[in-house]
Amino acid sequence: MFARIFTFAILAALVGAAVVDKRAAPGYATLNGGTTGGTGGPVTTVTTLAALRTAVTGATPKIVQISGIITGDGDTIDVGNHTTVVGIGSNSGVTGGGFRVKKGTNVIFRNLQLSKSPAPTDLIELQTSTNIWVDHNTFTSDLTHDKDFYDGQLDMNHGTDFVTVSWNVFQQHWKCSLVGGSDNTGDEDSGHLRVTYHHNHFFEINSRTPSLRFGTAHIYSNYFDNVLASGVDSRDGAQTLIEDNQFTNVVDPIETTLNGGFAVQRNNVFTNTTVATIAAGTLTSVPYSYTADAASTIASIVPANAGVGKVTGL
Ligand SMILES: *[C@@H]1O[C@H](CO)[C@@H](O)[C@H](O)[C@H]1NC(C)=O
Ligand SMILES: *[C@@H]1O[C@H](CO)[C@@H](O)[C@H](O)[C@H]1NC(C)=O
Repeated sequence: MFARIFTFAILAALVGAAVVDKRAAPGYATLNGGTTGGTGGPVTTVTTLAALRTAVTGATPKIVQISGIITGDGDTIDVGNHTTVVGIGSNSGVTGGGFRVKKGTNVIFRNLQLSKSPAPTDLIELQTSTNIWVDHNTFTSDLTHDKDFYDGQLDMNHGTDFVTVSWNVFQQHWKCSLVGGSDNTGDEDSGHLRVTYHHNHFFEINSRTPSLRFGTAHIYSNYFDNVLASGVDSRDGAQTLIEDNQFTNVVDPIETTLNGGFAVQRNNVFTNTTVATIAAGTLTSVPYSYTADAASTIASIVPANAGVGKVTGL
């Protein structure tokens, strides 16, 4: 692992300033004590569903490496506290099922190929959980099945908090990422659901990139690339800061029309799309430091660095 990090550092030094820091993890997951996953714990490598399920349970620090694509059984794979789940190489992960963190904390998902989880199981679901970092994964479904055949690619609900979603590819899916599962959960969700989405590539998605109820979202330097029905949907009082993103061929890139959501948008580039009138929000700054990349650079930086196979080591 150290050798690989060392190699990365040398490459970065050789290539110079053009290299994006692909490990950067700013965002809400750095608050509330930070998000370290299984750092310092034992490393296990798994190749079967049964071994994966066993390896990710328990509340002590652990790093679980997946080798190859594991076929799920449609049910959730429940992940315990202080866990890093990481794929080896560029083609390791889970198909036909997904992960759930329920009443948990401090989990990292990285470098995983995640695909085609039939409803009611999301590819990743975060329920009543804190400090989660979802980084450099590729989420893939298809648009040929009915819109409700697969469940969400990355959904968060029931008071989940302090989440960062960075450098992922979300592609070919109907309802991508839902933050806040219902209009009736304001009691548990208001003041929570604080989430950062940065440097993600949303490609050929129908809607929910993301859709937010009640929460607080900082959405910066993402590439919205062919979104067919609606993009960022801020509703039910959600406050959203949307900056330095590239929106290309996106129908309704930003909406605040359902049950009174709010958004502040600045320094975005809209190509082949226009923004409707939005209800101006109050989220104009966030309580952590970060470096946004300018919207004009996003269509090259994000596809080159997002998704699986771009980070090595843990
Ligand atoms: C996991 O973390 C949550 C949140 O801190 C805690 O409530 C729960 O008891 C922990 N689970 C275990 C098995 O320690
Ligand atoms: C904008 O839309 C036109 C017409 O559909 C299309 O030909 C063009 O490729 C689009 N531009 C981009 C940057 O996708």
